[in-house]
Amino acid sequence: MSAFRTVRGMRDFLPEEAKLMKFIESKARRTAQLYGYKEIITPVVESYELLAAKAGEEIRSRMYAFKDLGDRKVALRPEFTASVARLIATTLRNEPKPLRLFCVGSLYRYDEPQQGRFREFWQSNYELMGSNKPEADAEIVMLTDSLMKSVGLKNCVFKMGHVGVLRGVLSHEKLEDKVQNEVMQLMDKKQYDDALRLAESAGASEKCIVTIQKLVELKGGDVFETVEKAKEYVRGYKRAVDAVMNLCEILKLVSETGEKIDITVEAGFARGLEYYTGMIFEVYAPETPIALGGGGRYDRLIELFGGEPTPAVGVAHGIDRIMLAMQRQKTTLRTEEEKTIMIIPIKEKLKREALKISRTLRDADIPVEVEVMGRKVTKALEDADRRETSYAIIIGEKELKEDAVVIRNLKKREQRVVKIENIIETIKNNKL
Ligand code: HAM
Repeated sequence: MSAFRTVRGMRDFLPEEAKLMKFIESKARRTAQLYGYKEIITPVVESYELLAAKAGEEIRSRMYAFKDLGDRKVALRPEFTASVARLIATTLRNEPKPLRLFCVGSLYRYDEPQQGRFREFWQSNYELMGSNKPEADAEIVMLTDSLMKSVGLKNCVFKMGHVGVLRGVLSHEKLEDKVQNEVMQLMDKKQYDDALRLAESAGASEKCIVTIQKLVELKGGDVFETVEKAKEYVRGYKRAVDAVMNLCEILKLVSETGEKIDITVEAGFARGLEYYTGMIFEVYAPETPIALGGGGRYDRLIELFGGEPTPAVGVAHGIDRIMLAMQRQKTTLRTEEEKTIMIIPIKEKLKREALKISRTLRDADIPVEVEVMGRKVTKALEDADRRETSYAIIIGEKELKEDAVVIRNLKKREQRVVKIENIIETIKNNKL
């Protein structure tokens, strides 16, 4: 027994799991097409500076960072957004807006491995660049709802907020960005007492602390009532009021699409990434306490990377976590089972014929396996049965003289001699 194992936090995906992953990926790609997002492929390795710039302390400290052999400080990407923003600031700088871009692939974070948290994981990521309008935010939320429903997940719940609410209050108190970021990080980790203590020690007033306390406690499924209350709580903090109004507009657009989307508004909601400037959200399935996806508006990142000021909003969905949620909800895959064929030459000298026929069938888009173990027909048939193969094509000398083979339906256990030129038709039209 080999002593080699996967590295901690890394996983193999065996055929059944790989199939489920690829199914989710195909739905994500289809969702991208349905919403007009063009797929791009960006590198797994990026410059450390780019990835670290606005990732937030939590992700920054968990990056797989190293020096390459050319002494460059690089890292494995922990997310896609920085790479897409880099493109918009450089190569795609002059592309007409809006730009809708989609990526799917693996990401790396040195997180503590646990249920739904891995060191290598997959995301489907959508970025809408160039619009500061609430309809762009609404589109990103709708798109997430479409994807969750299209993979068959039920009863997903959206948690929504706006970073401008807390930041509006904190910046009114003249708290520096750095302190604000730290407060937001603590809020994201639900360490509210530590967050408040930090704000207080940085000079936040009593009124500010009380306001934040009230905001943190304010959450509700009646979104418009919650938004009204939030507006009351932040009265006097102009930027926070604007943020609440913006969130309200987005919520109106989302709720008026006619599609039922379950949303809870959390006034004190914060997310770990530092680049957010507007609406933020996460989506959950009731069976899994971890977010299946998250995103929000980030209007200043592209400028920070040296590009034109470009408002942007986006989302990333955790494919691994969607997979877990589907397994917990016992979602059945609605994929068509393809017929599979095993070609078995009766004798060693007929293997050339087996390969030739296999090629003809594949050219007609029929998946084929050829018996390559040199087994006797009975053994090979037993194996084909075990693999739940639909048909066996048995090549024997007697039939071959008549330009024919035996086709056996392994489910029905019936067989017939069929001319080679009729194999494709027989299989495609279920004539056996
Ligand atoms: P994020 O919230 O860091 O956002 O990640 C998005 C999703 O990726 C999470 O909701 C989760 O499903 C999945 N995910 C994150 N870390 C792990 C992990 N260790 N194991 C398994 N799944 C994980 C972003 O990455 C932003 N770039 C989203 C975005 C795009 N915002 C604007 N545009």
